[in-house]
Amino acid sequence: MSKKWYRDGFVYQIYPRSFKDSNNDGIGDIPGIIEKVPYLVDLGVDIVWLSPVYKSPMDDNGYDISDYRDIHYEYGTMQDMKKLIKTLHRHKIKLVMDLVINHTSSEHEWFKKSVKREGKYTDYYHWEDNPRNWTGFFGEKAWTYNEERGQYYLHLFAKSQPDLNWDNKDVRDDIHDMITFWLDLGVDGFRCDVINLIAKDNRHPNGRPRLLLTGREYYLTYPNVHKYLHELNTKVFSKYDCFTVGETALVDVNDAVLLTSPKRKELDMVFQFDHMGADSYLVKWFLKKFRPMNLKKPLSKWQNKVNNKGWNTLYLENHDQPRSINRFGSLDYRYESATMLATMIYFQQGTPFIYQGQEIGMSNISFEHIEEYQDIESHNIYKLFKKLGFTNRRIMKKIKYMSRDNARTPMQWDDSMNAGFSDVDPWIQVNENYPDINVSSQLSDQQSIISYYKKIIKLRKQYPVIVNGRYMDLEYRNPNIYAYKRFNKTYEMIVVCNATKKPYKMHKAYMPVKNLLLSNYTDHDPLILKPFEARVYLKKMS
Ligand code: NOJ
Repeated sequence: MSKKWYRDGFVYQIYPRSFKDSNNDGIGDIPGIIEKVPYLVDLGVDIVWLSPVYKSPMDDNGYDISDYRDIHYEYGTMQDMKKLIKTLHRHKIKLVMDLVINHTSSEHEWFKKSVKREGKYTDYYHWEDNPRNWTGFFGEKAWTYNEERGQYYLHLFAKSQPDLNWDNKDVRDDIHDMITFWLDLGVDGFRCDVINLIAKDNRHPNGRPRLLLTGREYYLTYPNVHKYLHELNTKVFSKYDCFTVGETALVDVNDAVLLTSPKRKELDMVFQFDHMGADSYLVKWFLKKFRPMNLKKPLSKWQNKVNNKGWNTLYLENHDQPRSINRFGSLDYRYESATMLATMIYFQQGTPFIYQGQEIGMSNISFEHIEEYQDIESHNIYKLFKKLGFTNRRIMKKIKYMSRDNARTPMQWDDSMNAGFSDVDPWIQVNENYPDINVSSQLSDQQSIISYYKKIIKLRKQYPVIVNGRYMDLEYRNPNIYAYKRFNKTYEMIVVCNATKKPYKMHKAYMPVKNLLLSNYTDHDPLILKPFEARVYLKKMS
């Protein structure tokens, strides 16, 4: 079975809560997505990745699942889901679901039974008589006491997200069955949430104390992860024409190659986070000044090291990341910097992912008070930093910059009330810039961010060198310019991006003047790159 489609295709991520509200309850839903399928068709994307729509108490917006085989009532019904799959397929768009199998919600019946030590469920989670010093991703202690069972359980995220015990074969079998259920319904693959955390050292030793993520040596890409993914692949995934992308927190490039090397049969590709650290130290809350080199270096490292061994993903945004324009571009040059960033990333080797709203240059929200934020992570981190003695001003500065809510404000469809997302007040405030930044106005403008995205999507289909060609850095040491070459026997493509707002005088060699395939400016100086100017040259080899 050919699996090429997942390498050639453009993926569009939908965060259902914020995409389109069809029944005016202020919350996005599946019928809303169905309504917008023509939009996706027009954009030209091939695959939709849908963030979780399963039944959930919504402590973490669906990443806390209480029933894997049912749909959350605010999002619709199983019938709606079937209709979505059918509608997308009719338009030749594949559907990839989110697969959250490191943990469940504490409302899941497996956890409830485990608490009561009912039969095979007794060891479905990690239980200990004494707590360990591990801490998790939301800045909390990772072991919490459960009165009823009289033991502590592990949760690497919120208290209501207990971690499953993957060393237990019954757990793995149940998960395999559940995945088969969805594949039989017609879904085309999965984005596997924090999948490099599923294996743990089951003795749960205390870890070396750290400010954040204590104990990570016992849960981050722990060796058994390869065994469990290989099993999942051979027993389930390989039986279908589907693809998997793993979200792999803090993964290094060598592990990523192991996880995605086709002959090892684990995952098809992973999301790495090195370039997401361009404006922070190891943990995202410790901010540092963004420099283009901090983005270019990791991107280039992953291009060079994964090339031909595994497979990369190309992304700048998702529902956990602030908007890229605020981090790596400039609001003063919204069009230029958004299109430059798209050029920089989407001409590389790997599968490209767009996060809803990125294609129109949506930007961060700025709430003054912590109460206005909805995200559980922002609230937990606020409490942690308060405990550590940080001032309110300092904490809010971090949260305004890094909160995941920056990416979760409603999709800006048009300039009508609530940006055309809903007729009533949405679950989270719409960004007030929606009268200027919206889909409808950009679609009718040839010089808009969305029109530029459409061009890139078309070009990737037209020139396989973008998908499969080799990669070579040009001007590697230049801190302001990101330039690289893609090539195969037929074509040579040169991509040059000025990653700053200052004009830049270029070295002659990269300015062939002729053969310009794409640019975000209409007039070009052969030697000067304007603020955030991006150019792509294509030469046919004779
Ligand atoms: C990663 C998801 O992307 C994020 O939104 C979620 O909070 C955690 N995993 C826990 O599932």
